[in-house]
Amino acid sequence: MDGVTPNVTSGPTFYIFAFFTSEKQRILILITVLLIYLLILSGNLLIISLISLEPRLHTPMYFFLCNLSTLDIMYVSTTLPKLMYICHTGDHVMSYTYCMTQLYFYIMFTDTEGFLLTSMAIDRYVAVCFPLHYSLIMSKQTCFLLILPAWFVSPINASIITCFITNLTYFGLVDITNFFCDLKALMDTSFSDTSSLRTYIILNAVFIGFVPSCMILASYVRIIHTVLNIKTSVGRWKTFSSCSSHVTIVVVYYGSAIILYLSESLKEDVVLSLMFVTLVPMLNPLVYSLRNRDIIGALRIIIQRKRTWVL
Ligand SMILES: *[C@@H]1O[C@H](CO)[C@@H](O)[C@H](O)[C@H]1NC(C)=O
Repeated sequence: MDGVTPNVTSGPTFYIFAFFTSEKQRILILITVLLIYLLILSGNLLIISLISLEPRLHTPMYFFLCNLSTLDIMYVSTTLPKLMYICHTGDHVMSYTYCMTQLYFYIMFTDTEGFLLTSMAIDRYVAVCFPLHYSLIMSKQTCFLLILPAWFVSPINASIITCFITNLTYFGLVDITNFFCDLKALMDTSFSDTSSLRTYIILNAVFIGFVPSCMILASYVRIIHTVLNIKTSVGRWKTFSSCSSHVTIVVVYYGSAIILYLSESLKEDVVLSLMFVTLVPMLNPLVYSLRNRDIIGALRIIIQRKRTWVL
């Protein structure tokens, strides 16, 4: 290594493609992402405030939902503000430290999302299959144990993957064909051997992706079995509708993960790439607030309370 160039001594930097090639596209993406981001922030903040303000919503299911909304805000905040900054300034270059930080939080929050959805499925399973013992089983301790992997295992896992990536070699300006520092793009552009990292990622997919999704599936098999055994159709519908919001989110989360995994070319498509990051955070408040009587009821009560204060 005799030929030291200024680029190598100052360390590698990343060129974030961000999908725009013309001025028109740049402004269009900026406006779309801004609207999506504001929608996600306001929807999830509304859910968090309703659950915190309304004592009737202080149940495990809504505590988990509150966790999910908090997570969704943090999740989109790791990628969207930077994308808007890139669109606003037209400056595609990202520093090495920024890229690694973004990678770390992105992996961590993606894992947390999967764990939280599993906790919520177990909660629904207990509610449907053991309705009489629900409050006994879902004690504060159980809730804490269910939430533990989401907030403690994912940071550890994200640290391991980020450590792997920081040990890879990069030179000069590295092209990232996505709108954030994405793991796959980082592996593909490195000059080092990534086979041990790829093995780790497969193990990771089994333990953090496959096992939780099997638990979710098993919960729902039991739930459906119980629901089908309910004699009255009103009771059947009532029980099922308490799970339908969660089912919708699970299908979207795992559906997009599978599509993302199966297709390579989708990565180059701006609409699909953005959808993978924003769909669950955007749908979550919509699905839970529009179709949920408790949430709408809480909103009504809080608005009425405000009105009596004003009068
Ligand atoms: C997350 O869930 C736990 C367990 O139910 C609850 O105690 C906590 O308040 C929730 N935190 C947030 C930020 O929603």
